[in-house]
Amino acid sequence: MVKMPSEIKDALAKQKPIPIATATKDGTPNVIFIGLMKILDDETLLFADNFFLKTAANLSENPRISLLCYDSDTKKSYQLKGSSKVYKAGPQFDEMRKWVHGVNPKLPAKAAVVVKIEAIYDAMWGPSAGKLIV
Ligand SMILES: Cc1cc2nc3c(=O)[nH]c(=O)nc-3n(C[C@H](O)[C@H](O)[C@H](O)COP(=O)(O)O)c2cc1C
Repeated sequence: MVKMPSEIKDALAKQKPIPIATATKDGTPNVIFIGLMKILDDETLLFADNFFLKTAANLSENPRISLLCYDSDTKKSYQLKGSSKVYKAGPQFDEMRKWVHGVNPKLPAKAAVVVKIEAIYDAMWGPSAGKLIV
C-alpha cells in the first residue's frame, strides 16, 4: 500500500469522470468511466457500482484495478494501480449507499468497491513519463 500525496488526491478529486481499467483472470482488459469516486483516506478510494457489468465480472475474478487522471491546472498526470474488495453488505456497503443516495436516490447502488492504492506512476509526457512516483 502507498499513501497518495496531496497533489495526486487533488488531481483525482477534480477529475470527472475517471477512467478505470480492470481485466479478466486471463488478462482481457476493460475500461469504463466512473463519476462517483470518493477518497476515503490517503491509501484508499471508494467507488460505487451502479451499472458495472463486465467490470463487476472482472472484479469477481481479478481484484487488480488501474486509474488514470490528468490535472489541467498543474499539468500533471498520474496512473494509479491498486487492489479492490467488493462489498454487498456491511459498513462499507452502508456508507456507499448513504453517499450515493445523497447524490441521487434513484441510483441502484449495487456494491461498494474499496480500492487500496499500491503504486502511482507519472503519466505526463516528458523525461519522467511512466516512472514510479510512489
Ligand atoms: C460520464 C460517465 C460516468 C459514469 N459513472 C459511473 C459510476 O460512477 N458508477 C457506475 O457504476 N457506472 C458509471 N458509468 C457507467 C460505466 O462507465 C459503464 O457503462 C458500466 O460500468 C458498464 O460497463 P462494463 O460492462 O464495462 O462494466 C459512467 C459512465 C459515464 C459515461
